[in-house]
Amino acid sequence: MAVEPTQNIDTLLLEERTYPPPPEFAAQANAQASIYDEDFEAFWDREGKERVTWFEPYTELYQWDRPYAKWYLGGTLNVSYNCVDRHVEAGLGGRVAYHWEGEPDGDRRDLTYGDLQKEVAAFANALKELGVKKGTAVAIYMGMIPELPIAMLACTRLGAPHTVVFGGFSADSLSARINDMGCEFVITQDEAWRRGTTVALKKIIDEALQETPGVKGTVVVRRTGNDVPMTEGRDHWYDDVRGSDDPASCPPEPMDAEELLFLMYTSGTTAKPKGIAHTTAGYLVGVATTHRYIFDLKPETDVYWCAADVGWITGHSYIVYGPLCNGATSVMYEGTPDYPDKDRWWSIVERYGVTILYTAPTAIRTHMKWGPEYAQKHDLSSLRLLGSVGEPINPEAWIWYHEHIGGERCPVVDTWWQTETGMIMITPLPGVTTTKPGSATKPFPGVDAAIYSEQGEEVGPGGGGYLVLRRPWPAMLRGIYGDDARYRETYWAKYGDVYFAGDGARVDQDGDFWLMGRVDDVMNVSGHRISTTEVESALVDHKEVAEAAVAARNDAMTGQAIVAFVTLKGGGEGSVEKLEELRNHVATKIGPIAKPANIVFTPELPKTRSGKIMRRLLRDVAEHRPLGDTTTLADPTVVAELQTRGAEEQSRED
Ligand code: WT7
Repeated sequence: MAVEPTQNIDTLLLEERTYPPPPEFAAQANAQASIYDEDFEAFWDREGKERVTWFEPYTELYQWDRPYAKWYLGGTLNVSYNCVDRHVEAGLGGRVAYHWEGEPDGDRRDLTYGDLQKEVAAFANALKELGVKKGTAVAIYMGMIPELPIAMLACTRLGAPHTVVFGGFSADSLSARINDMGCEFVITQDEAWRRGTTVALKKIIDEALQETPGVKGTVVVRRTGNDVPMTEGRDHWYDDVRGSDDPASCPPEPMDAEELLFLMYTSGTTAKPKGIAHTTAGYLVGVATTHRYIFDLKPETDVYWCAADVGWITGHSYIVYGPLCNGATSVMYEGTPDYPDKDRWWSIVERYGVTILYTAPTAIRTHMKWGPEYAQKHDLSSLRLLGSVGEPINPEAWIWYHEHIGGERCPVVDTWWQTETGMIMITPLPGVTTTKPGSATKPFPGVDAAIYSEQGEEVGPGGGGYLVLRRPWPAMLRGIYGDDARYRETYWAKYGDVYFAGDGARVDQDGDFWLMGRVDDVMNVSGHRISTTEVESALVDHKEVAEAAVAARNDAMTGQAIVAFVTLKGGGEGSVEKLEELRNHVATKIGPIAKPANIVFTPELPKTRSGKIMRRLLRDVAEHRPLGDTTTLADPTVVAELQTRGAEEQSRED
């Protein structure tokens, strides 16, 4: 949904409630108020030295050759060494790294840092034996099993950049990413568990690999144990290729600070996803630092749970790299929150004594809909801090979370960031910040965020506009893989000298930021970015579709929901069957997450005289709003027709 920030300032109700940090929490917090007074360079220099162990120390903090930054220049390090080996060397080999809980009942596994070190060595040796070396690109397509972080760490041990593709993406999405990055190997599993049934990951890989000439081999981890087809010479069961688990047999490769760590693909305003590039040192320092201060991590005593999927940036930064670098004990859960019942999450919090919980507003709203009785069945008194990420959190959900999950004693940190920023950028510090439900509050220390008007002037307190970032930060993206022009165009063309985030925002009299959603043609469904054009091209790919336009409407549960407007070839009429067929087609092309919630079949799309689809109008139809100015339309009668149809089709949603 595109937000017109200037319109919103007047209409948005200001949330008046404030929550100062509880004094006992503030007294023991890792971050105290003085952290905001620190000099930007001194801050990142100290964190660079304290969070990470270097093989060779860096010689220069950063270089800013707009729009590209480099950090910790001259330093060498290894991510798997920092996340695993050094903790074992420090005598912490017995500390649990992950309490892993599978979806099937009773399926549990605790991995200590010592176990993790062995597993990473064994996996890295397997990859090495198959031919993976420094610089070999590897795709990973897995569910939430321990072998997923193990495989990622194994890649980093060898200096092989990875791209993890979320298990909900289709074969087409997968092959596009594999080809764009030039991946030579794919790591996957036979099947994944999801809500009591299996997802055929290996089967989807087989389909994707029809289109990926560059892939030499796969490694397949057994999860469900069901039979899956294996291609001789290409596919390898992990059990057959697993190498020595002696870490000394696979020493961590020293990497230059600026070498590529991974790509994470994310949607933009065109159909082609962007390979967001993150490099080694800045990313690791950025995620470890933010994880420590924002979640107030006490690695000796905390049990931390980020209930996201490792297949998204949230999982990379705050399930894998940040927490492990900090020596945290985390929970990792494979399945859905309602399997076998709606109290599954709360049983996990109780079982492991989770102290810090980080999740998304869409999940909070789902629990809210199910009712607080599921949480009440369990002892949640171990919780001391709650976090939120992915979309603006509505004040009702914030307050429900604070009250029913946090027992009114836990600070709530609403964290704004993006795949591109790699690390949290705007957030409360739990022992310092007075929070307001719905506001992500203040830029993290060292982060220079501001709000600009359309004309590029900074907007003061009380104003609204576009969120920009004016100074580089360590975990900042190093561009879009293989597409410098698109990088400059997407993030830098609007203002020239500052990073344009694509979000509308307001700043209030206290200097607190209120994020208001995307201003481009990017939708946010359940905290996941999906581009309108991507869904449109999936729709027109169907043989019967002549034209398609996609808009988002607000949705009480998922934040936004996708509405598609479709014109069929030869003036064909829509039907419930056709609707299902098209929805499934989108699922095949992109993945189930991109399925339109509903489709409006229409003989014509509203276009300007120059032939441009009037998206604003479609959004109004999708939202059942009165329509604004339609005088620029080539054929104004299209609109009346659309409105009637929009109202009719609404009932067909699932
Ligand atoms: C977009 C980034 C960062 C991990 C999850 C999503 C929206 C994210 C918040 C928040 C308001 C938020 C923004 C942003 N967003 N967190 N706390 N408040 N909006 O990562 O897929 O890269 O999406 O998510 O619109 O630009 P992503």
